[in-house]
Amino acid sequence: MRRPFIAGNWKMHLDKQAVNSFCDSLRASSHSDGVTVGVFPPFVYLAHVVEALAGTDIVVGAQTCRPEEHGAFTGEVAAVQVKDVGASHVLVGHSERRHVMGETDVEIRARLDAALACGLDVVLCVGETLEEREAERTGEVVLGQLDSGVTGLDGGELVSRVTIAYEPVWAIGTGLTATPEQAQEVHAMIRSRLATAFSDEISQGVIIQYGGSVKPANVEALMSCPDVDGALVGGASLAYESFAQLIEFNT
Ligand code: PGA
Repeated sequence: MRRPFIAGNWKMHLDKQAVNSFCDSLRASSHSDGVTVGVFPPFVYLAHVVEALAGTDIVVGAQTCRPEEHGAFTGEVAAVQVKDVGASHVLVGHSERRHVMGETDVEIRARLDAALACGLDVVLCVGETLEEREAERTGEVVLGQLDSGVTGLDGGELVSRVTIAYEPVWAIGTGLTATPEQAQEVHAMIRSRLATAFSDEISQGVIIQYGGSVKPANVEALMSCPDVDGALVGGASLAYESFAQLIEFNT
């Protein structure tokens, strides 16, 4: 039985006051025990959010990390520093990191390995652009990113510490959501690849989130797909009222 995981990726949004009031509301919230809830604040608020949500079961993570332990990387934050401030998770390979910051599969894998090595759990994002989908390259692109991110990992570690987030780039921040059928098709493809690369049992244990314009109006249809185990939410995670509707959703 896979435990649904709903997470808010705040990207470069919110200010100190908004973060504080969001955390106050989250602390007082009563999401279902059967759902993992998480938030990924901007780096400058990360330590503060960890403290503000201490004692709750809400997971807090960074939006990326640098694999080196320290060094001359102005503006970057190391995986070990993310761990040091008490965060438990990190996103790697978000499409904005891939396409705006130009991170490659190899760099993304280095971040994932460094995160796991220092005790952080990882959400590995994969997804095709509109151009790639229209060229019927969705499977090739998504599975290529997946292979590059997970090949050679220990299967037990994959199940317990790595979440896959399928985020079609054309659906992120655009209001265009993949239909439940489109999401399910790719999620099933991911799970089947994991079955081949690891085992059926392992593939059945891995949480696969969908991301891309998830909101209260479409979360139920997406979550009812057999291989959709959660959501990685940008825009609709910025106001507590809409995020609350997503985390109170009970499968
Ligand atoms: P969106 O972003 O929900 O605003 O489309 C999702 C994401 O980038 O994780």
